[in-house]
Amino acid sequence: MNKTNKIIKKNIKAISSETLNGENYSRNDFARSILNYPAVMVPSVQEPIIERLSEALDKNVSLLDPFMGASNTLVTGMKYGMNVFGQDINPLSILLSQVKTTFYQKDELIDAEQRVMSSIKSDISDVIEVSFTNINKWFTVDVQIDLSKIYRAIRKEPNLRIRKFFWVALAETIRLTSNDRTSTFKMHMRPIEEINARQVSALKTFGSISKKNIKNFVDFISVLLEKGHIKKGKYTKNAEVVWGDTNSGINTKRTFNLLVTSPPYGDNQTTVTYGQFSYLPLQWIPLEDIDTAIEMDYLKTAQEIDAKSLGGKVKVNIKEIQDSIFDKSKTLKKFINQFNVEERKKAEKVIRFIHELDNSIDKMLPRMRKDSFLAWTIGNRNVNKQIVRNDLILNELFESKGIELFTGLERDILSKRMPGRNNFSNMMSKEKILIYKKIK
Ligand SMILES: C[S@@+](CC[C@H](N)C(=O)[O-])C[C@H]1O[C@@H](n2cnc3c(N)ncnc32)[C@H](O)[C@@H]1O
Repeated sequence: MNKTNKIIKKNIKAISSETLNGENYSRNDFARSILNYPAVMVPSVQEPIIERLSEALDKNVSLLDPFMGASNTLVTGMKYGMNVFGQDINPLSILLSQVKTTFYQKDELIDAEQRVMSSIKSDISDVIEVSFTNINKWFTVDVQIDLSKIYRAIRKEPNLRIRKFFWVALAETIRLTSNDRTSTFKMHMRPIEEINARQVSALKTFGSISKKNIKNFVDFISVLLEKGHIKKGKYTKNAEVVWGDTNSGINTKRTFNLLVTSPPYGDNQTTVTYGQFSYLPLQWIPLEDIDTAIEMDYLKTAQEIDAKSLGGKVKVNIKEIQDSIFDKSKTLKKFINQFNVEERKKAEKVIRFIHELDNSIDKMLPRMRKDSFLAWTIGNRNVNKQIVRNDLILNELFESKGIELFTGLERDILSKRMPGRNNFSNMMSKEKILIYKKIK
């Protein structure tokens, strides 16, 4: 490494607050606009951090995001020609990330779009292709018929890469045409009068989303081509995404020198319900077209994915984990000890979440090389009307593993950013970007 720690820190601290606060961020940025996945990172915020850490690592980077979500971190890493690897527990994140890290030719997408659209137009069947409990609550019959036409047209496509591309467009179509409100991530039906008065066409929505996604892809690929990161029709480095529970392990033998992530905050049962957000789209997308290695009955209930995610419903005996996690984090101990018996019961989910976060970090660290950087974007949340200082807790967890904070940045969260996680929960309007360095 040529640069001293002092210079690296100075370069990171020099990132302007306008950039960090997302003021230079384009709403049409490729990374965000393919599917509105919950709580994604803002590309303009993470890009300068990734860029500066890449310089610190002499531009030879293998990047890991162990909670990859909509894979915005990976996509940003690809712009800088990095090896990228992402993992997530949510099958919809896997599908979306597979597509976003795949190279598509403009012509193959345009040809496929024409085939899919003409197959839809000539389809006069009114057979409904999927069935699940409460389908009629979540979709009008007209929408079900239209979605079934789209489903049949996509299934006819012989090439899996192409099918994946259009499944993502179908997922966004479902988000916009189901009876579920788009204003929350939790499943919440629109009022019946609104459903009856609403004019939605799943076919038109799908047509325009497909066109928009093709345009976004072509733009992104032209950036990669321009930067020389695509040669002979392939990304020059490795880009891999896998399904997996980070609390159980990182599903690769690869090692990394950069980790960039924004973890869940432990509110996935209540406000930022990644799983519930994905439940309706996943009903319409065949598992074999996502990844047959997925070992989770994710459609069992609408809560299944969230229950299996960090901070979910895993039954652990609080007494068994409490002492060791309190030893690691005095901030957590203080937070819990302020409550009376009844409130404490409600706050125990925070202990479970932090215990799982700590365990997940233990799974990541062996994959991180000596002198690697780990950049975490994390905010605080409220439980029992008290702030959980996730930022301080994370510092303490790392300290307990012998890893000190290298440097940190703070950003304001713009309330106009939609759909941002902070619009839906009682979180503070600041987010921290905490950068650690693993020196051993
Ligand atoms: C804040 S999002 C990540 C956003 C992402 N960095 C981006 O910018 O697109 C958090 C992600 O963690 C995932 N997650 C939660 N628990 C997990 C677990 N145990 N293993 C792997 N992923 C998990 C959620 O499914 C969600 O996609």
